[in-house]
Order: sequence, then C-alpha cells, then structure tokens
Amino acid sequence: MADGLRYLVRRRAAQGARLMALGAWAAAAALSLAPGGGVCAAVARPAGSLPAAGARPGAPRSVRPEAAPARVEFTRYAAAAPILAAFRGSGLPGSGIATPSAWDRWIRAHDAEVRGRIARGVEDSITNLIFYGTSFTRQPRLADWSVALDARGRLTPLAAARLRDFLAAVRALGPARGPRPLQAAGAGGRLAFAARFLARARPPAQWPAYLEANLRRFVAEQTAYQRRLAAAQASGNRQDIVLARSFLFEHRGLSVDTSLMPNFALTDTLRVLLAKGVLHAGQIHRIAVIGPGLDFADKREGYDFYPEQTLQPFVLLDGVAGLGLGRAPDLALATLDINPQINAHVAGLAARAAAGRPYVLQLPLADDVPWTPAALAYWRSAGDHIGHPAPPLAPPPQVRHVKVRAVAFAPAWEARVRPVNLDIVAQTMPGAGFDLIVATNILVYYDPLEQALALANITAMLAPGGIFMANDVLPAVHPPDLEFLGRRGLPYTTDHSFGDSVVVYRRR
Ligand SMILES: C[S@@+](CC[C@H](N)C(=O)[O-])C[C@H]1O[C@@H](n2cnc3c(N)ncnc32)[C@H](O)[C@@H]1O
Repeated sequence: MADGLRYLVRRRAAQGARLMALGAWAAAAALSLAPGGGVCAAVARPAGSLPAAGARPGAPRSVRPEAAPARVEFTRYAAAAPILAAFRGSGLPGSGIATPSAWDRWIRAHDAEVRGRIARGVEDSITNLIFYGTSFTRQPRLADWSVALDARGRLTPLAAARLRDFLAAVRALGPARGPRPLQAAGAGGRLAFAARFLARARPPAQWPAYLEANLRRFVAEQTAYQRRLAAAQASGNRQDIVLARSFLFEHRGLSVDTSLMPNFALTDTLRVLLAKGVLHAGQIHRIAVIGPGLDFADKREGYDFYPEQTLQPFVLLDGVAGLGLGRAPDLALATLDINPQINAHVAGLAARAAAGRPYVLQLPLADDVPWTPAALAYWRSAGDHIGHPAPPLAPPPQVRHVKVRAVAFAPAWEARVRPVNLDIVAQTMPGAGFDLIVATNILVYYDPLEQALALANITAMLAPGGIFMANDVLPAVHPPDLEFLGRRGLPYTTDHSFGDSVVVYRRR
C-alpha cells in the first residue's frame, strides 16, 4: 500500500473532503506531474514564453461588478453536442443522446437526479455528527468510522451510546420549526437542522432504525472506497489509480464537508500564477466558488463546538486581496451550489451584514499532524488580510489535539458574498464574466461525462483570460476556448502523504 493510501486509511478515511484531497494529490504524485514536478506546466516555463501579463483583452473595469448578474440556464445542446460525441459509446448516462429535444429533456431530469443526491449527503453528515459530535453527549469521539461496527456487524457499545444520546438530543428539541438563525449556537444549529431533516424523512418512531441504517450504509460505502483505492493501487496501473481516485464518489450522496487546507493550495497557486505573470495585480473582480461547503458535519477535523460556517468564500477573498490580485471596492464573490442548506446560509449573510454583525470563522487545526511550515503559516494567517483576529471558542474536553484560531470579517465583506442556486453539471450562466472560478472537492462526485459538462458550463461563465482552478483530475475533454495550463502539487504534511494537486485552466 502506498504511503498516501496508508495515511489515508490510518488518519483520514472517514473524511470525504480529506479523502478527495488526498486522492487528487496521490494521483498527481503517481503521475509525477508535469516536468518540473510540483509546478504547473505552464507556470514552470519562463514568464517570457507565456502570454503577456494581462492577456485578457479590454481595459480594467471602472464599474463595480455585481456578484451574479447573469441568468442561470440549462446547458444548451450546442454546448453539449461535442461532449456527447466524444463520449458516444462510453455507456455513460446521457452519452447516447443525439437530438436537441432529447437533450433538453435529459438535462432537466439529470439536474433533478443530481439534486436528489443531496439528501443522502445530509444522512452522511448526520452520521458523522453521531460519530464525532461533542455537543449532545459526554461519550468520547469515535477514533474512526471503522470502529462503529464490530466484527459481527453489530454497533459497538460506543457507537450505540452515541446514537442513543443523539436521538435523545434531537427528540428533546421537539418539533423544530421556523427559520434557523444563521450561525446560531454551534451545536444547536446542527441539531435543529438534523431534527427538521429527520421529521421530513421519517415518523419519529422510525428514527432509530433509519439512523442506524444510514450509519451502516456509510460504513459499507467507506469500506468499498478503501477497497477500490487499494485494488487500483495494487494493480500498479497509473491509469487505474487516477481513474479510481478521480471518480471515487461518483455515486455517493453529495456531502457538504469543508476544511481549510484546499484553500492553501488555491491561494498558493494564485501566488505562483501572479509571480509568473499569468495573472496580474488588480485583475480579479468577480469570483465564483462552486460548492463552497458548510462546516456542518463533525468529523476528525470538523467539530461542532462552533457555529456552522462556510470557509472558502472568505479565505479565498482574503487570498485574492492579500496578493493584490483584487481590490476591496471591486471584489464580489458568488457561491454556486445546489444544496439549500448552504444557499440559505450564504443568503443569510446579507441580513447579517445589514445588521452590522461580522462573520466569525473558527479555524481548528489538528496538532498531531506533521504539517509543513508553509501549511502551518497558512493556518496562522488565513483571513488576516481582510479580517481581524477574534477570540477563538474553546474546544470541549473530549476534543483533543486541536488548536483553534478565529478571524472576524466585517459586514462589508459579508455583503460581497451572494448565493446562486446552480447545478454545475447541468446549468450555467453565460456571460457571467467571472475572473476566477474555483471548485474543490466537488467534481470527484461526478462521472467523466458530467465533469466534461461542468467544464463547458464553467467556460461559459469565465471572462476571457479568467482562471479556473480545481483539485481533481479532470477529463481531457474540454471546450477549445478553455486552455489547460497545468497541474501543481502542494503537500500539506512533511511526509508528503497529504496534500492537493491543483489543476489550472484559462479561458482564451
Ligand atoms: C465536499 S463539499 C466541498 C466544499 C469545499 N469546496 C471544500 O473543498 O472544502 C462539496 C460541495 O459541492 C456542492 N455541490 C455538489 N454537487 C454540486 C453541483 N452539481 N453543483 C453545485 N454544487 C455542488 C455541495 O453542495 C458542497 O457545497
């Protein structure tokens, strides 16, 4: 078993986002990356051989941009046709479609199918909360999902006790109705959300069996992912390894998990793109974060001792402003997501800004992981360019090996972040003109055809010269006006077993 995989199994296997991050990283390592290893192929070239800085045509905008000015529409047949042709005969859903009317029907049905995976993701989040939460129980956290069931497939006493405590806590909330206050008391918000979800899913008498079945499904799925990765690894075939990692979650429920470090990889790659002249100061006005995530599910590096939060929009704005790639009066960020829980959270930012309440991010960091000095430095400074230090919340006694810092973002920054309900596989906003679009730990949930459709949808939303970055290995099939600039690996740990590989594209 490769080091990365061993590390994955030992420390991270319960974490969807982590698993994906590591998967992408290990795949990059397995491929040795491009020549010059660890640096984007394009940015490794001398700056002189690149398109001139500011290759994006047109003068800098003088008008302050709106975050999401364009209309959301389904991917048109004209944009999809070349992708369908490339995948014809692949057997992938949709690949046999050959007429505009069939396409229009299919893409709408497919959008509904994609959105249908959200509920399964919520079930997984609730399972994680049961395994690792500290707000509803005095029981220790599970060491790992793999100790939830014993050798005979029964719930272990610890898992059973946690399930009981969780049930008691959600039942004690009573029929939870009404809007959930944004960033309400950390655990309370999560439990109230879980109670509402359960109430919609099943009659209360069925909750114990339903939750236990979800828990078993989760463990079975995680076991299968591990086996799939191990089999690919054992084959020694690089192609198999890349494919196994790139589409690992293509049938999984859509999770909302999020964590800080992918933003380190994104910010550091922006730094390199700036240094190499691919990007220039002040170039970025409009940003889109596809799938920003919500730190809802408690897992080894997400906790429930602080309110639910979305990290990526704020730390990305911080990175862009800190590098001088964008300037405060100009910057606006749209989140593109299909999850109503996330969209409601982001929509709540406007009211929060209007009430003059800052957005406080808690940034936990495991202190028993061999972080690189650069990753540690990122954790210590994330948010500092546009936010200011806030008192961190203290972890409860069951939470060990974690340190926390907190950073507060002024209402003016909250007001710059707006949600858009958009399915990146099936929808786009032509002419949205984003200068930067990021998507981390999301495309791994989709098959290659869906990923190719997502790339087409992203291309339609990019301004000329705009940059798209992701941390998944993506299919080679992408529109001709989207240029692949390269891939750049960044380890987060000194043993190089945990990190990300960022792919960079530019709209011609
Ligand atoms: C695992 S989270 C990743 C969060 C964050 N990007 C990170 O790396 O920490 C996946 C996110 O993608 C969103 N998502 C999944 N499928 C999507 C789709 N088809 N269109 C838009 N958002 C999607 C989920 O709702 C969630 O916000």
